[in-house]
Amino acid sequence: MSIEFAGLSLKNPVVVAAGSWSSNQENIQKCIDNGAAMVITPTICSEPTPAVNPEVFYKENEVYSLSLYSHYAIEDWEDELEKVEKKDSYVFCSIRGTTVSEIVFLAKQVERIGADGIQLNLFAPMDISLEKSILQTEEKLKNTVKQVVKAVHIPVMVRVPHYIASNVNYVKALNDSGAMAISGIDSIRGLYGVDIEKACAIPDAVAGYTGSHIKPISLAATATLSQLTNMDISSVGGIRNGRDILEFIMLGASTVQLGSVILEKGHAYIGQVIEEISYWMQERGYSSYSEIKGKALNTLLTFEKMAKKVGR
Ligand SMILES: Cc1cc2nc3c(=O)[nH]c(=O)nc-3n(C[C@H](O)[C@H](O)[C@H](O)COP(=O)(O)O)c2cc1C
Repeated sequence: MSIEFAGLSLKNPVVVAAGSWSSNQENIQKCIDNGAAMVITPTICSEPTPAVNPEVFYKENEVYSLSLYSHYAIEDWEDELEKVEKKDSYVFCSIRGTTVSEIVFLAKQVERIGADGIQLNLFAPMDISLEKSILQTEEKLKNTVKQVVKAVHIPVMVRVPHYIASNVNYVKALNDSGAMAISGIDSIRGLYGVDIEKACAIPDAVAGYTGSHIKPISLAATATLSQLTNMDISSVGGIRNGRDILEFIMLGASTVQLGSVILEKGHAYIGQVIEEISYWMQERGYSSYSEIKGKALNTLLTFEKMAKKVGR
């Protein structure tokens, strides 16, 4: 039941997304002990980011993240990762910098302190500053990723938002960058609303909108990425249970990330989900995830086929 992902052999397709549920050694260990094949740290920057309180705004099952990157410096992460007992799981470090050289420097640092891979967080939903510099063109993006890939010996995965997942030029640039995997989607820039009596925005900053409501957007992004790239896909966004995981795999994902559902249900829920998918696979007589990977893709009509079907 193992799967190949970014050149690594993973014991199952369940990955824990970057976030407060993986904020330190203790939380990473809980993810590993509950069976996650891979855990991604919150985004590590050159300077630690102070914690915001509260870091999540909930409204009627919607999740708005106000959290900004990791609260730990790289030296703290060195101590944290040293204490993690990885067993047969992998730890990827999410990193972000403002220039190519800063990102390359961070990539080398996390490789040195024990990361098994890197998730590049370039398109953060709340911080769109890089759009003016290294993300301005697809060539600049490709160059940034290439420099990181060249600098380290561990796999590099790039995290993309939904609007990049369907941008043929950007996906092609990433395909040619040497990155082994692509993860999508980022949470979406969102606001819950405005209190019209007080004329104030809710919450008080544009947040990362996520949770089950964004699942249709991340499903479409996974299907589109499957059609546009041959990089391994790690799906993220709105995934809550085993059934969701299987849906993403059938649209071409190799791994699937759990995020805010862990905040709600606790780390032990990771184990329940893994059991749920293993049970489903065994019940149906599947012996490998490769038997179901991408299986639903050919049922998806292209725009041209759809138009033909209706005689347009
Ligand atoms: C509290 C919180 C903190 C997060 N921190 C990070 C982070 O440091 N880096 C990152 O790339 N994504 C971060 N994310 C985004 C998650 O990795 C993930 O994309 C998002 O939660 C969508 O998945 P979900 O719908 O399963 O929650 C964070 C999300 C939340 C809710």
